[in-house]
Amino acid sequence: MSDVKAEVVAVFPNKVKIVVDDLENFRIAEESLRVGSYLKIADNENAVLVAIIENFQIQAREDGSQDYVIEAFPLGVLRDQKFERGGDALAIPPKTVQPATIDDIRLIYGSSLPVKDRFCFSSLATNKEVEVPVDGNKFFNKHIAVVGSTGSGKSHTVAKIVQKAVGAKGDYTLNNSHVIIFDIHSEYRAAFPEANFIDSASLVLPYWMLSGEELEEFFLDTEANDHNQRNVFKDAVIKSRKDNFQGGEIEKQRIHLDTPLPFDIGDILKDAVEKNTQVNGTGELYASGPKKGQEKTTQGSLYGRLTNFVNRLESKINDRRLDFFLGEKSRIITFEETLRSILGYGEGECKNVTVIDLSGVPFEVLSITVSLISRLIFEHGYFYKRLRCAENANEKINNDAPILLVYEEAHKYVPNSELSKFRASKMSIERIAKEGRKYGVTLLLASQRPSEISETIFSQCNNFIAMRLTNPVDQGYVRKLLPDSLGTLIDKMPAFKQGEALLVGESIALPSVVQIEVCTTAPASTDIPYWDLWQQQWKDLAIDKIRDEWMRR
Ligand SMILES: Nc1ncnc2c1ncn2[C@@H]1O[C@H](COP(=O)(O)OP(=O)(O)OP(=O)(O)O)[C@@H](O)[C@H]1O
Ligand SMILES: [Mg+2]
Repeated sequence: MSDVKAEVVAVFPNKVKIVVDDLENFRIAEESLRVGSYLKIADNENAVLVAIIENFQIQAREDGSQDYVIEAFPLGVLRDQKFERGGDALAIPPKTVQPATIDDIRLIYGSSLPVKDRFCFSSLATNKEVEVPVDGNKFFNKHIAVVGSTGSGKSHTVAKIVQKAVGAKGDYTLNNSHVIIFDIHSEYRAAFPEANFIDSASLVLPYWMLSGEELEEFFLDTEANDHNQRNVFKDAVIKSRKDNFQGGEIEKQRIHLDTPLPFDIGDILKDAVEKNTQVNGTGELYASGPKKGQEKTTQGSLYGRLTNFVNRLESKINDRRLDFFLGEKSRIITFEETLRSILGYGEGECKNVTVIDLSGVPFEVLSITVSLISRLIFEHGYFYKRLRCAENANEKINNDAPILLVYEEAHKYVPNSELSKFRASKMSIERIAKEGRKYGVTLLLASQRPSEISETIFSQCNNFIAMRLTNPVDQGYVRKLLPDSLGTLIDKMPAFKQGEALLVGESIALPSVVQIEVCTTAPASTDIPYWDLWQQQWKDLAIDKIRDEWMRR
């Protein structure tokens, strides 16, 4: 190495050109240089520019021998053992060029962060020995997006991040991390066997906690825009709430459609049936005929007009699949019990992770289910902050138990679509995207299709983990996140291996291609070894059991 001649021949803001006479020996230890390797370029002062190799060329000399031209992209400067991004701080002319050692590279990623702030779940794809920490506060304080084609490793990445977050303990047996995972494919129970696990059989959600808008969306045929339905429904809900209310008269008068107080859906149905069949006496009697002597009647103003509404209510109430939402337990569960169960604060329980398995929730109520839970968590944060501000006006950090909400297949809840079936969940999650930071609620969204996620939400994400992405439209979304100078990183994305990702965001020293660590316990999404399985004995399938499971839905 010592007698290799390596010279900087040109410096541009986003490129450094270096000529090397002996590429074979221009290396550290056994490691030869590749595209993606790091170089350090020292100047006369104390700074060392770190650059990453983008390409090599061969240049013929007049005497017939060869030189090698390396073009490298300047990442930043190491000065007094600290790394600063940007390549313009180098004093010209630069002096020596050397391949960076592992310790140099470690300095880039580690030096900017105090040890206690480091959160680490990956290493450099080109140098696996170099861990790539992110700033744990910045990472979890801003929303996170994990994107990548199917099988690229998103679920494993999500599991790894949460496992590391839950495993990071100070002097305690249990840490104070709070993560709620919306699990649409029953994947995460396997990764978090200790979690507070809720599925459609154990989930109890109080329908009476829906907002006015959600109530209408769920119980009314909103497309029909039927005022009768809406008025009858609204009045009946408010009346039932007042009838069930145990407090004082003044508070009772304040009850409205959005007040989160219990009402009985049975009352609403009864009221609608009554109005739909109501006949009023006129005071006159029939003078003759078969009804002689009976009072004459006229039909009530809503007679027969609520038939659709009544049918809709009845079919919902009788739908066993909706028991988690409209069953007896939902009517009587309290506000407090609901929050405790979702937050993992059940009786004597401290659960860092709650897995909400949504696989048994019928598709038509998925949006409203996700919306209600998300809104409850957000409002919990909101009121917790209010409470703490009221108790201590000088307090700066108003939440000591912030929460991470994880949405797998986020395009299913917050798509780039205005369809009414997505309205509820989109509204709740968009609100968290916009305001959640202030109230200690952060989103982690995983999706195969960044271009199909609501732009409002995507644009609020500040940490991106982009895994293998082959679709050019989706790649375009990721490209927008990168500084122009690093746009070429996108070209590598289609070739990423499983678990490789481009990590971009405020929380990391510089955008980098990393390898996510393997999970301790994996989610149930591992590739199926077809070829191994197909070589085995013929397997019997318990089709009857499959049918039973199918019919349960
Ligand atoms: N960090 C990793 N290191 C090594 N292998 C990994 C890593 N992450 C994932 N894999 C492998 O990749 C496969 C797919 O991973 P995963 O289920 O996380 O993909 P996905 O992106 O969530 O796919 P889908 O969009 O279909 O849900 C798994 O078999 C897993 O073993
Ligand atoms: Mg997945």
